[in-house]
Amino acid sequence: MREVAIVAAGMTRFGELWQSSLRDLFVEAALEALSGAETDHVDGIYVGNMSGGQFVGQEHLGPLMADYLGMAGVAATRVESACASGGMALRAAFFDVASGASDLVLAAGLEKMNDGADVTAVLASAADQETEAYHGITFPGLYAMIARAHMEEYGTTDEDLAAVSVKNHAHGALNPKAQFRRKVTAEEVMNSSLVAAPLRLLHCSPVSDGAAAVLLCPLDRAKEFTDRPVRIMGTGAATGSMALADRQDPAFLDAVSLSAGRAYKMAGIKPSDVDVAEVHDCFSIAEICVTEAMCIVDRGKGGEAARSGFTSLGGKLPVNTSGGLKSKGHPVGATGIAQTIEIFEQLRGESGDRQVKDAHIGLAQNMGGSGASSVVHVFQRV
Ligand code: COA
Repeated sequence: MREVAIVAAGMTRFGELWQSSLRDLFVEAALEALSGAETDHVDGIYVGNMSGGQFVGQEHLGPLMADYLGMAGVAATRVESACASGGMALRAAFFDVASGASDLVLAAGLEKMNDGADVTAVLASAADQETEAYHGITFPGLYAMIARAHMEEYGTTDEDLAAVSVKNHAHGALNPKAQFRRKVTAEEVMNSSLVAAPLRLLHCSPVSDGAAAVLLCPLDRAKEFTDRPVRIMGTGAATGSMALADRQDPAFLDAVSLSAGRAYKMAGIKPSDVDVAEVHDCFSIAEICVTEAMCIVDRGKGGEAARSGFTSLGGKLPVNTSGGLKSKGHPVGATGIAQTIEIFEQLRGESGDRQVKDAHIGLAQNMGGSGASSVVHVFQRV
């Protein structure tokens, strides 16, 4: 396989973007990536999207997006793995380039959730329909059960959960593209409206619109497009039981653990080699469980890591410097690519007030549903 690099990136602001349609969002992000590399050509396009059909009535996104980018003719397809669709699109693009089949490939993610659909019902279609969604469970409800299990098993507290939201809102306040650019206090989090006990409004990622795109090419051609390429050192993907009831331990995310192990192995690194990480904090408990499953922190210590500053900007291993899904926003299919862009910029030293000093190795972890799919990429400054 060939070595692969990311050479350019583009991203819309995340939020309630009433003036832009799904295709407008894609074109904005894709054009920014193409102009960053000063190219008007790609060999292939992968579009990560969870549910264009249910959110805005639009399927068949590959050809539509290629056409609206002025690139009809190019090979283009959609990749779907619920909220992990963006990360899986990056993985597909990586193998397209690594295999030698294509040279210049765009990996994009997009979602338009604020267009009138019953968002909670659409999202619930990524849970087990027969044993979960049919009976009325929602994603906040599923993650609330994970939180309860974690509290029971490890003594995790409301203060631990709140610390994740406080940290990520503090990071997001520094991100011009974030949906919520404001700090929150632990008291505000713990007094916000109850959504599904113990999770409150300020534990939840919001409903968002947005798109993001990155451009990949063989590492040995990267200098044609940028003087600061970022190498993709490793990729790992895995699946786990869809239904929470089928899991041996609902507080441990098996697919995350497996996908991280595979990515670390391919990259030839240990978790302690990572300088900066973006992980899937769709709810505050998710960041706690993910960082534990990835061995970034010890089992049961995810909440303490946020409370102690270990995972804050300036801490030993900053996590979700973009603001995470919680504060930056979570247009579900776009998230995996947006996480990649945060790491791309961190490793290039372009993150401004959010810059992690001397960041050489970064990772992005993107998850589908309540953790039934997970994909991890490890990146390196070249
Ligand atoms: N975090 C912080 N503030 C939020 C927010 C969030 N997640 N969601 C909404 N708000 C704010 C809104 O901006 C609004 O503020 P304003 O009154 O100052 O304008 C206020 O809270 C009410 O917004 P509203 O849209 O009425 O909220 P809602 O009650 O309809 O939805 C949630 C809130 C938490 C239910 C919704 O954001 C949600 O479902 N989030 C989870 C999404 C999800 O499951 N994603 C997939 C993960 S696997």
